[in-house]
Amino acid sequence: MDESLQKAAELLRNAQRVAVLTGAGISAESGVPTFRGQGGLWEGHRVEEVATPRAFLRDPTMVWRFYNQRRAGLTTIEPNVGHHALVELERRLGDRFTLITQNVDGLHLKAGSQRVLEIHGAIRRVRCTGCGMKEERYDVLPDLPKCKTCDALLRPDIVWFEEGLPQDVWAQAEVAVDACDVFLVVGTSAVVYPAAGLIHYALAKKASVIEVNLDRTEATHIVTIALQGRSGEILPQIVK
Ligand code: OAD
Repeated sequence: MDESLQKAAELLRNAQRVAVLTGAGISAESGVPTFRGQGGLWEGHRVEEVATPRAFLRDPTMVWRFYNQRRAGLTTIEPNVGHHALVELERRLGDRFTLITQNVDGLHLKAGSQRVLEIHGAIRRVRCTGCGMKEERYDVLPDLPKCKTCDALLRPDIVWFEEGLPQDVWAQAEVAVDACDVFLVVGTSAVVYPAAGLIHYALAKKASVIEVNLDRTEATHIVTIALQGRSGEILPQIVK
């Protein structure tokens, strides 16, 4: 492990451009539950059953209850040392650094990361299903929140299964991965596409891929260096 950690640090030190992909695992140590694995179920539903446009059409109250539960932590949940290590990495690399996150919790921004691409949207934002209005809301929302302008139902401004990613944000993520020589992948099970496809893309472009994860994932066997452990432990060590 020590040797792999040294090797990872060396790759980052010598990198021209670094892209990072994060998933729910980096926020686990802030108390945000991950989607899969232990504690990954919500009231007996698989996340795929809750986070879809079909589920929202069928039972918007249930879907909003799921997201209101997660929104409840918006003002109280704090970033952890893993998030802060990435802020420090960005401080050193400046515009040679891009952070792509699948997380909708906003914790990278709260930690102070600046070059952040939220490819799955953000739970702090709502979007009107009628007029398309978007706004940041930190207040407690009812189970069926309505638009102040047109009275249509609001939805969380996040990407659900079966929906496309925000085109402009995704395009920037592809550019960042295309240009990087080191791709750091943290706390993602690497099963949700197209995000997980960025790992294959980076390898095809001959970038080195460093994975930090508590367990083995779908990507572990293809990455350049796999570091197994908590992101809150490993990231500060690599950056140090
Ligand atoms: P998952 O819940 O699928 O995976 C979390 C990963 O984090 C697992 O591989 C864990 O082993 C790892 N992990 C847990 N705790 C960790 C820790 N302390 N340090 C390091 N790793 C840890 O979450 P994602 O891969 O982010 O999509 O899921 C991808 C997408 O699926 C999400 O963005 C979401 C979900 O449906 C949308 O909302 C569109």
